[in-house]
Amino acid sequence: MKTSTVIAAFLAGGVAAYPNMDKMTAPLAAKAYEQARKRAIDPKAPQGAGALPLVPPPFDAKSQFVSTTGDHKWIAPGASDQRGMCPGLNALANHGYLPRNGKATITQYIDAVTSVYGMGVDLATFLATYGAVIDGPLLSWSIGGAPHTGIGGSHGNYESDSSPLKGDLYQYGNLGKLVISQYKELANMQADADEPNYNLEVLREFRGKRYQESIDKNPKYVYGPFTGLLVSQAAFTFIYRFMANKSSEYPEGVLDKNTLKSFMAITGSDDNPVWTFGHERIPDNFYGRNDLDAYTIPYFNTDVLYIAETQPEILAIGCNQNKVDSFDAIDVNTISNGAYTVQQVAKNPVCFATEFALAELPALTGLSSLVLSPLTKVLNSVTSGLNCASIGNVNTSALAVCPGLTFYGGPTAPVAKGAIQS
Ligand code: HEM
Repeated sequence: MKTSTVIAAFLAGGVAAYPNMDKMTAPLAAKAYEQARKRAIDPKAPQGAGALPLVPPPFDAKSQFVSTTGDHKWIAPGASDQRGMCPGLNALANHGYLPRNGKATITQYIDAVTSVYGMGVDLATFLATYGAVIDGPLLSWSIGGAPHTGIGGSHGNYESDSSPLKGDLYQYGNLGKLVISQYKELANMQADADEPNYNLEVLREFRGKRYQESIDKNPKYVYGPFTGLLVSQAAFTFIYRFMANKSSEYPEGVLDKNTLKSFMAITGSDDNPVWTFGHERIPDNFYGRNDLDAYTIPYFNTDVLYIAETQPEILAIGCNQNKVDSFDAIDVNTISNGAYTVQQVAKNPVCFATEFALAELPALTGLSSLVLSPLTKVLNSVTSGLNCASIGNVNTSALAVCPGLTFYGGPTAPVAKGAIQS
């Protein structure tokens, strides 16, 4: 199915117009989203017009302050320390919240992201367990690394195309390289603002631009059910949700340009920004999220719907056919063997993406159900919390139409013929 057909179906229905689906999905997040849409939209809301939270969260300077001194002093990674494509995890390692060598256990990841940034335990457990089971030797894994040791070798199962600032693997031949034109595009979206704030309003527009840019420039672009719909969306929402500095005046947080640059390892002037691999830094005087306002899976689901409200194309999974601008959407009904319609995906994308991951993992990883069991348990708790319809069997032949599909690609690869770099 072509992208336009999927988008047309989505637009024809809207995200809240499927009463028969309530029994199947009943998503907490979608309810919060609908409430958010009903209330008056405040165009000056720091998080973006109409985005959650409905009321400002609490702010407690003492518990939200993130130390950047003493044991948590910033130290540049040494030659044997591993760093990768996630700026949030790189910064944690550079400040000693994760082991400075870049390799950590599931528990260390969960502790660090919940205590420093205020990620919900549900989301942290999901992300950390997925990494360890699928990309590492079960209990621990690397924030850099290669296939079967860390994120660096996870292209197609975790790391994905059309990320905010990192280039696509087959477009640049490297999945960890920050592309300055992508950074400039984002930075310029607030060039005329009196007080720049890279909030969800800005980021959802940027997300749409990056989705299209990958179609236009990466012949092997793949936007998959789990990597595209779920992981790559997180890469955008996390920028505001975790990097914005909270204060008593703005408890939801404001993400100004200097804070963005610090987290993204960028120095230099507006005309000549310079990126240094692995140098991500938590700025001094930084305050994370309040515990009562943790960024959970339902919260994230709501943000994905918020993005889809103005960028419905992000609900269309699919891939380019070995040349730029040849994007073919994949029918979610076919790929899920009838378990999901396009409207159901539009209503609860996290449900579809997570159920897809659950169903596809044994076949695509080749791992036994015993090895996968810690992850299966976590994924089941996510989907049961959201009342998701399960996918018995994935129709993997529907994915075989994607020439750029790999499951353990990276960190480097040959640049695809016809790729356009900028
Ligand atoms: C255990 C927790 C986490 C895991 C397992 C994780 C994993 C990943 C992975 C696999 C990617 C690559 C995604 C892609 O290619 O689209 C990524 C990218 C990213 N992550 Fe994380 N991450 C975690 C926490 C965080 C946190 C707390 C933040 C923010 C402070 C963050 C911010 C980002 C951003 C902004 C990107 C996109 C980078 C770019 O392209 O510019 N992550 N992360």
